[in-house]
Amino acid sequence: MRKSLLFFVLMLPSLALASGGTVPLMNANTDVSDNASLQSGAKTFVNYCMGCHSLHFMRYQRLAKDLDIPEDLVKENLIVGDKKIGETMTIAMQKGDAVKWFGVQPPDLSLTARSRGSDWIYTYLMTFYVDESRPTGMNNLVFKDVGMPHVLWELQGLQKPVYETITDSEGNEHHVIERLEPVGEVSQAQQTEYRRTVRDLVNFLEYAGEPAQLQRKSLGWKVMLFLFFFFLVAYALKKEYWKDVH
Ligand code: HEC
Repeated sequence: MRKSLLFFVLMLPSLALASGGTVPLMNANTDVSDNASLQSGAKTFVNYCMGCHSLHFMRYQRLAKDLDIPEDLVKENLIVGDKKIGETMTIAMQKGDAVKWFGVQPPDLSLTARSRGSDWIYTYLMTFYVDESRPTGMNNLVFKDVGMPHVLWELQGLQKPVYETITDSEGNEHHVIERLEPVGEVSQAQQTEYRRTVRDLVNFLEYAGEPAQLQRKSLGWKVMLFLFFFFLVAYALKKEYWKDVH
């Protein structure tokens, strides 16, 4: 009884996923200790995302320090407009305009990696596909009828859906998307490059969701190392004290 209960509890997350009929997420393979990847992600974010999305909690100065980018390079390459290095990565887009253009306000992305998860954002950026019925001409596998255009399409190339027909238990047929395939020729090199660009971008968003994790992780190692040496000392002491007792 107890075993089956445990099994049920362990299975809960996957049951919840299964009931939503969701697309399996791809693995973003992020690593926030990879500084080159974070730098490349920050660049892509500023060039391709910051027209619409802000990072309210991220200061340019902190970015410069954490990612080891000299402040003058940050000023030259990452700061848009006349912002100062001490300011946060907010944008000037007016709410009314955004709603007129996209139907919704593009959300601030500070906490998205934590709320949605890195794998979700990765899959989201990988699975835009051509859908003529949508105002942007695009749809998305993990965000149905999304208001955001596929801003990275020139890097990825376009994808179109391949459908399959499945019959449900009542005998009704449904057309569902089986997979996406490139429209036209997309070289292996371009696909690999796109995966890397998106991985770096997601890595950056994961870092931006909790900048302190860089320090926390390096502090964690130091604490473990300290505990290890402390253990050796304590053990040697214990042996010394008990020597006379035995
Ligand atoms: C032209 C404006 C525009 C640009 C540029 C843009 N987005 Fe968006 N994005 C939107 C809009 C609008 C939404 C809201 C979509 C909706 O709710 O239907 C959105 C939603 C999202 C979401 C989902 C957020 C959530 O939790 O619902 C993510 C993640 C995202 N964008 C990431 C990015 C990234 C990464 C880039 C840069 C590669 C980018 N966006 C560039 C307009 C934009």
